[in-house]
Amino acid sequence: MSTKKRQMSTGTIALVTGANEGVGLATAHRPVTVRPVSIDVTDDESVRRAAEFVGREYGRLDVPVNNAGTLVRRQATEVSAADMRLEFETNAFGMVRVVHAMPPLLRRSPSPRIVTVSSDSAVFAKAAEKGSMFARSHDPFAYSATKTAVNMLTVTYANAFLDGPEPAHVKINAVTPGYVATDLNDFAGTPAGSF
Ligand SMILES: NC(=O)c1ccc[n+]([C@@H]2O[C@H](COP(=O)([O-])OP(=O)(O)OC[C@H]3O[C@@H](n4cnc5c(N)ncnc54)[C@H](OP(=O)(O)O)[C@@H]3O)[C@@H](O)[C@H]2O)c1
Repeated sequence: MSTKKRQMSTGTIALVTGANEGVGLATAHRPVTVRPVSIDVTDDESVRRAAEFVGREYGRLDVPVNNAGTLVRRQATEVSAADMRLEFETNAFGMVRVVHAMPPLLRRSPSPRIVTVSSDSAVFAKAAEKGSMFARSHDPFAYSATKTAVNMLTVTYANAFLDGPEPAHVKINAVTPGYVATDLNDFAGTPAGSF
C-alpha cells in the first residue's frame, strides 16, 4: 500500500494515506512538494515506521489525512463476520492506528488537524430515505458500517481532545468527497481530478 506525504508551500506537513490513486492522489496533487512513503494502515509496524519517517524528515506532522479505504461489494446476507472484520480493519481500525501513532508528532505542530474521510453512505437519514441511491444499493454493506464507525470515532476523538490529556488545540474533522469516479466505485461519479 502506498501513501504520499507532502510539504505544502505554507510549510504545512500532511500525511495522506492511500494517495497512489483516486481521492488521495487528487488531494496529494494540491501541495508543492510530494514525497511517497509506504504505509499499510492494517499493519501496526508499517504505521509506526511511517510516523518515524515523518518525525525524522520533518520533526512534526500538521495534518494526517485518513483517506485509505476499501469497499467490497457483496450482498448483505453473503457478508460473513470475517468479511466485515477485513473491511473494518482498513477503514475504521486503520484510522485508529494512524491517530494512535501520531500524537508525538502532532504535539510539535502549532496547528494540528486530523482529517478523516467518511461517506454519504454512512448517513442514516440517506440510507433510510426510500428510493435514494443509498437505500437501493445494499452491496456496500460492510463499507457503510465502517464509515458510520468513522463518524462516531471522529466525534469521540474531538470530545477527547477537548478534555485532554492530548492538547485541546488538536482539531479533527470528517469530510466526504461526494460521488467521485475512482477504482472504489468502478469509476462512476465525478472525475477525481475535478473536485
Ligand atoms: N469515490 C467515492 O465516491 C467516495 C465517496 C465517499 C468516500 N470515499 C472515500 O474516499 C477515500 C478514498 O477512496 P477512493 O474513492 O479514492 O478509492 P480508491 O481510488 O480505491 O483509493 C483507495 C486508496 O486506499 C488505499 N488503501 C487501501 N487499503 C489500504 C491499506 N490497508 N493501507 C494503506 N492504503 C490502503 C489504496 O491503495 P492501493 O491502491 O495500494 O490498494 C488506494 O490508494 C476512501 O476512504 C473512501 O471510502 C470515496
